[in-house]
Amino acid sequence: MGTMYLLLLFTGVLAGGQAQRHFVTAFLENYDRTSATTFQLYIITYNNAASVTVTVAQPSFNQTVVIERDKDALVTLSYDYMIYEKDISSKAVIVTSDANISVYAFYTKNNTADAMVCLPQEELGTEYYIFTPGTGGINQFAVANGINDAVSVNITVSGTIIFNGTYYGSKDKISISLAYQQVIQFQSTSDLTGTRISSSAPVAVFMGNKCFAGPGTTCDVLVEQLYPVQNWGRYFAVFPLLNHTSDIIDIIAAYSDTRIFIEGSKGNTTQYNLAQGSHVKLTLQDRILVNSSKPIMISYLIQQSTTGPVPDYDPFLTTVPPIDFKRNYYKFVTYPDYYNYLLIVSQSSADTDFFLDHHPLNLNNAFVSELNGIKAIEVSLGKIGGQHEIYNEASAFVIYVYGIYHGVSYGYSVGQEKSYPDPPLPNATEEPDNPVVLDCLPHGAVYQIPLRLVLDAQLSVQDIHLEDPLCQAVEQGNFAIINVPFNSCGSRVLDEDGKIFYVNTVYGTIPDTSIHRIEVPVQCEMAGNETLGINFHPKVTDVVSQGHYNISLKLYEGGDYIKPIALYPFEIDLPGNIYVEFQVDSDDKDLQIITENCKSSPTLEDTAQSYNLIEHGCFLDSTLHGYLITDNRQQRFSFHVFKFDDFQEVYLACNVVICHKSSVPNRCTQGCLNRRHKRNIHSPESKLGTARLSQGPVVFKKEHQHQQQHDNNTLPLSSFVGALCVFGLMSVAVLILQKRYYQKQGYSLLPNTSNIH
Ligand SMILES: *[C@@H]1O[C@H](CO)[C@@H](O)[C@H](O)[C@H]1NC(C)=O
Ligand SMILES: *[C@@H]1O[C@H](CO)[C@@H](O)[C@H](O)[C@H]1NC(C)=O
Ligand SMILES: *[C@@H]1O[C@H](CO)[C@@H](O)[C@H](O)[C@H]1NC(C)=O
Ligand SMILES: *[C@@H]1O[C@H](CO)[C@@H](O)[C@H](O)[C@H]1NC(C)=O
Ligand SMILES: *[C@@H]1O[C@H](CO)[C@@H](O)[C@H](O)[C@H]1NC(C)=O
Ligand SMILES: *[C@@H]1O[C@H](CO)[C@@H](O)[C@H](O)[C@H]1NC(C)=O
Ligand SMILES: *[C@@H]1O[C@H](CO)[C@@H](O)[C@H](O)[C@H]1NC(C)=O
Ligand SMILES: *[C@@H]1O[C@H](CO)[C@@H](O)[C@H](O)[C@H]1NC(C)=O
Ligand SMILES: *[C@@H]1O[C@H](CO)[C@@H](O)[C@H](O)[C@H]1NC(C)=O
Ligand SMILES: *[C@@H]1O[C@H](CO)[C@@H](O)[C@H](O)[C@H]1NC(C)=O
Repeated sequence: MGTMYLLLLFTGVLAGGQAQRHFVTAFLENYDRTSATTFQLYIITYNNAASVTVTVAQPSFNQTVVIERDKDALVTLSYDYMIYEKDISSKAVIVTSDANISVYAFYTKNNTADAMVCLPQEELGTEYYIFTPGTGGINQFAVANGINDAVSVNITVSGTIIFNGTYYGSKDKISISLAYQQVIQFQSTSDLTGTRISSSAPVAVFMGNKCFAGPGTTCDVLVEQLYPVQNWGRYFAVFPLLNHTSDIIDIIAAYSDTRIFIEGSKGNTTQYNLAQGSHVKLTLQDRILVNSSKPIMISYLIQQSTTGPVPDYDPFLTTVPPIDFKRNYYKFVTYPDYYNYLLIVSQSSADTDFFLDHHPLNLNNAFVSELNGIKAIEVSLGKIGGQHEIYNEASAFVIYVYGIYHGVSYGYSVGQEKSYPDPPLPNATEEPDNPVVLDCLPHGAVYQIPLRLVLDAQLSVQDIHLEDPLCQAVEQGNFAIINVPFNSCGSRVLDEDGKIFYVNTVYGTIPDTSIHRIEVPVQCEMAGNETLGINFHPKVTDVVSQGHYNISLKLYEGGDYIKPIALYPFEIDLPGNIYVEFQVDSDDKDLQIITENCKSSPTLEDTAQSYNLIEHGCFLDSTLHGYLITDNRQQRFSFHVFKFDDFQEVYLACNVVICHKSSVPNRCTQGCLNRRHKRNIHSPESKLGTARLSQGPVVFKKEHQHQQQHDNNTLPLSSFVGALCVFGLMSVAVLILQKRYYQKQGYSLLPNTSNIH
C-alpha cells in the first residue's frame, strides 16, 4: 500500500497563513568533509503547529516537515551542503515556517561538534564585526543572503585574507554581490577579529574555526552565528562555565572611543578604551561585570579543561548576551549522549521559581554564584537530548546551553534577540481536543467524529450521514464512525492535475428537516505514484582486496623468551647473545612464518657493510641457533652479537614470509633453500605475504655518549615494531606515515632493496 494523503476540510477552520518565520543559515566548513559530518537543524514549535520548509539552491535540497504544536523535528543536511568553495556558492540554507518556531543548528561528528542558535530574519542586520578565536587552525566566517534578490557586501579586512587570487591585508576592502541563497565563506590562518562587514540589505553572518587548536585540542570545529551591531549591548555579566578559570573572552567595539569597565569579584575595576573595530582579549579567571559607553560584543571561548564529568572535552564558542533581561521563557535543545548544562543569568533579586520542563527547578541541585546584583545558576541536565523549556513567570533572564563529552562539546546562548515567541499563557485553558480523523483506505475512507461533538449538536449517531442519507454513522466507543465508500453513498471523483480525489460530505441533520448542524466536506487524495519494493537475490561477485598481517619482531634478554626488551636502543655487552622472535599476529592457527632473509647493518641506511645472517631461509652465521616451537605462527632464533668497526650500533632487518598450512608444501615448510632450489620460492600459491621487519639499534654498553638519545627514543616495543613493519605491497600513504614516525624518532626509513617483495 502506498502513501495516502489526508485532506480534511472542516467548515470554519482556516489552514495555512503567511510565513511567520524565516531563517538563513549555513553549513560552514568542518575539517572533516566526509559523510560522518552533518548539519542538523532542530526545529521547535510553540503554541501552534508549523509547516517548515528547508531549502538549499545548489546542490538542491527541499524538505518540508509538519510539526505539531509544542513539538520538535530534526532536518539533517549531509556534508554535500558543507561550504568548501573558495568562491561564492549557492549553499545558503533557508528555513521558512508558517508559525513561530525556533531553530538550533548542530555541527555533528563523533569527534568534533558545536551548535548555534539560528537567528530569524528580523534579527539580521547590515553591519557586523567578525570575531575569530585567535591564531591556530583555520579561522573562517561566512556571509549569507537569504532575504533579498541581491545584496552588495563590503568586507573591511582585519588580519589577512586571500580571496579569488588576491591578497587582502588589514583595512583592505573586498566588495562582492550575493544573489538570493548565495553564501561566501572566507578562511585564514590569521586572526580575523575586527573584520567589518557592511551590506546593502540584511545578511546572516557566521564565524568560527574549521580546525581549532587550543590547549589539549588539535582540531575542533567552532561555530556561532553573529548578531549585527544593532543588537549589541552595553551591560554584560560573564560567569565562567563549568567552574573554569582560564577561558577566553573577547570584547569588540563598533564605535570609536568606546570606554569599557570590567568589574571583578574582588571589587576592583579595569578600564579599557577601544577604537572602532578593535578588541581586547581576556582570560576569564572569575565572574565579571562589564559595562561600556557604547555598544560592544563579547564572545566566550571555553578552553579544554579537566574539570567536569569528562576530562577530555573540546573547546566551544558562544556569544555573551547583554543583560538587558527581556525574556522569561525559552525553549532550547540539548544533544543526546553529552553531559548537558543550562546556565541561567538573571538579577539576584529575580524570582527563583523557575520551571524546567514544567517542573519547579530545585536550586539545591544547582550551582549558584552571584556578583553585584547578578546571579548565575548552573544546572546539570544530564545526558538527555531533545527539547527543553525554562520559564519564570515573574522575571526575565538569559541562558547558555552547553554539553561536553569525550573529545566533543557544543555551546550557545539565547537572550540577545529582539523578537521571540510569546511565552505560553500561564492559565491558558487548553482548547479541548477534537480528534476528528479521516483515514483514507484502498476502497474507501473511515471518518470518525467524537460523540461529544454529536451530542453538543443535540443529535444522535443516526443523524450523522453522507450525501446519501441512507449511509449513516454507527457508534463505536466515544466516536461516531462513518464509512465513506468511494463508489457509492454520493462519493464523487475529482481528477485535478492528474491527482485523484474522492469527495463526499458528512452531515449532521436534525431529523425530518434539511437543517445540518454538522457539515464536513471530506476528501481523500489517493497517491497516483507508488513506490514498490520487490525481493530478489543479488548475485555476488567476489571482491578481493589486499590486507596485511601484523607481524611483530621482538628481542628478548634470554633464551627462555620470557622478558621482551622494551626500551630501545637496547644496550648489550659484547660478548653476548641476542634472542629474536617473529610472530604473525592472527587467530588463524594454521598460519606459518619463516624468516627468509636477515641482514644486519651499522646504520639504517643500506650500506656495503651489511652482514647477512639469514639468506633464503638458510642460517649463514655460525652462531645462529634456532628454537623449536610448536606454534607455527612464531619463529625464534638467537645469535651472538657483533659490532661493526667504528660503529656503536647494530640494526637488524629481516624479511619474513607467511604461509598457510592449506598450501603445504609451501615456502614455509621448505625451510632453507640453497641456490639450486631458489626459483621455487616465487610460486605465488606457496606464500601469503612477505614482510620486511627491522629492529634496533642495539648499542654496545661501555659507551655512554648515547645516553641522552636513549631517553628520547624510549618507546613501547609493540608500537616500534608496528611502525617498522614494511610490507612489500603497502600503500604510499602508509609509507609516508611511517616516514613521519621515523623522522619523529630521529631515524630514517630503510630504503627498499630490490630483492625484497
Ligand atoms: C519545495 O518543494 C515544494 C513542494 O514540492 C514546492 O512547492 C516549493 O516550491 C519547493 N521550494 C523550493 C525553494 O524549491
Ligand atoms: C559515532 O558514534 C556512534 C555511537 O558512539 C557510533 O555508533 C557510530 O558508528 C560512530 N560513527 C563514526 C563515523 O565513527
Ligand atoms: C574572481 O575573479 C574572477 C576573474 O578575475 C572574476 O570573474 C570573478 O567574478 C571573481 N569572483 C568574485 C566573487 O569576485
Ligand atoms: C561598499 O563600498 C563602496 C565603495 O566604498 C560604497 O560606495 C558602497 O556604498 C559600500 N556598500 C556598502 C553596502 O557598504
Ligand atoms: C562547580 O563547583 C561547585 C562548587 O564547588 C560544584 O557544586 C559544582 O558541581 C561544580 N560544577 C561542575 C560542572 O563541576
Ligand atoms: C582584579 O584584581 C585581580 C588581582 O589583582 C586581577 O587578577 C583581576 O584581573 C582584576 N580584575 C579586574 C576585573 O580588574
Ligand atoms: C560602568 O562601571 C563603572 C565602574 O564600575 C562606573 O563608574 C560607571 O558608572 C558605570 N557606567 C554605567 C553607565 O553604569
Ligand atoms: C511569533 O513570533 C513573533 C516574533 O517573531 C512575536 O512577535 C509573536 O508574538 C509570536 N506569536 C506567538 C503566538 O507566539
Ligand atoms: C513518482 O515518484 C518518484 C519518487 O518520488 C519520482 O521520482 C517520480 O518523478 C514520480 N513520477 C511521477 C509521474 O510523478
Ligand atoms: C596491528 O597493529 C596496529 C598498529 O600497532 C594496531 O593498531 C592494530 O590493531 C593491529 N591489528 C591487529 C589485528 O592486531
